[in-house]
Amino acid sequence: MGGGEGAVEKVVNMFAEVFRKKTVWLSGHTGFKGSWLAQWLLELGADVHGFALEPATEPALFDQLELGKRLHHQIADVRDAGAVKKSIRAAQPDFVFHLAAQPLVRLSYEQPVETFATNVMGTIHVMEAMRELKKKCAAVLITTDKCYENREWLYGYREDDPLGGSDPYSASKAAAEIAIASWRRSFFKNHPVKIASARAGNVIGGGDWAKDRIVPDCVRALRKHQAIAVRNPGSTRPWQHVLEPLSGYLWLAARLSRPSTFNPQLASAFNFGPAHEDNRAVGELVEEVLKHWPGRWENKSDASAVHEARLLQLATDKASALLGWSPAWNFPAAVEFTIQWYRRAEKKSPAAIRKLTSAQIRDYCAAARRLVIPWAIS
Ligand SMILES: NC(=O)c1ccc[n+]([C@@H]2O[C@H](COP(=O)([O-])OP(=O)(O)OC[C@H]3O[C@@H](n4cnc5c(N)ncnc54)[C@H](O)[C@@H]3O)[C@@H](O)[C@H]2O)c1
Repeated sequence: MGGGEGAVEKVVNMFAEVFRKKTVWLSGHTGFKGSWLAQWLLELGADVHGFALEPATEPALFDQLELGKRLHHQIADVRDAGAVKKSIRAAQPDFVFHLAAQPLVRLSYEQPVETFATNVMGTIHVMEAMRELKKKCAAVLITTDKCYENREWLYGYREDDPLGGSDPYSASKAAAEIAIASWRRSFFKNHPVKIASARAGNVIGGGDWAKDRIVPDCVRALRKHQAIAVRNPGSTRPWQHVLEPLSGYLWLAARLSRPSTFNPQLASAFNFGPAHEDNRAVGELVEEVLKHWPGRWENKSDASAVHEARLLQLATDKASALLGWSPAWNFPAAVEFTIQWYRRAEKKSPAAIRKLTSAQIRDYCAAARRLVIPWAIS
């Protein structure tokens, strides 16, 4: 259970000092990003309280890492205001990371009401629960790069650009952002809880098994020696390894929590995205995957398919200026580590998969250290 796994010495950087022996309430810990974040926090020595639904996929990274045995694991629904309140009250967290969401664009067309209930009301329930806290707490609430009104611009969206969204998923996350800004101004001005929101691009990394996401689709097809069916080969996305936004979330929370580094501008919205040249088309991503796992792909574009934005980029000047945050792995490295994970994890024991995942976190920290990114320096 939480409280550290004696691995702090393995990932020595600023985060070890900030999160060791701290209580972290993490929603969505059974999901892809949440499982990576839980693994990283456990290595940093945090006491992690997870709140989420049962893992939605088989396999699931949560099970592959045996996280259920290693943190305070609660299966509950963010749509249940009482359950969220009880959980946060009991944990008395120093940090909150809210990742629980219905995150799939295509599913949001089938389940728009559930998507709004989870993504908007779920976020409001977390904020309502945090209003009761009488202690200092730094909270990072996760939305998405898709929260912007997409104008198919060639340049990146900035945090002050208009919010919007055609599909229900994007619109629900834009609505969550509006709620976060409202709650911050209305209830968290003179409050020990500091709230920021984080908008990241499309993440890739080992252990994503979601339906309708390009990398898991590639892995499923390649394992069966089938052609990869690619729906939108020309659509451009800000691809980044999952550890990139997670380092941003951790660093934002760390900076919010420390009086010496606190600046009121930090309690706001932040983009975390890749370098401009790493915004790539889906087809390029698939070609890069095939360099590490040979196979083939087919163009399965469907003109009658539901609308998904074609062009989306994020400007990360704010994260760079206020946090000194920048990506540590470029596009080829992100794809290489991702595919390496899937290939090395195949048919391996949970212990071996944990080792592999930890090793990738260490590699990522080492790359960030080489680039002298502030959080990575001890
Ligand atoms: N994966 C991406 O490319 C990406 C990009 C931008 C933003 N995001 C955001 O990051 C967060 C995590 O995404 P992910 O890719 O890990 O998704 P995921 O589907 O793998 O995980 C979602 C998590 O939320 C939990 N959850 C869903 N509905 C819930 C409910 N009603 N009550 C409690 N828990 C619930 C699930 O149990 C799971 O733990 C989401 O907020 C998502 O919108 C993801």
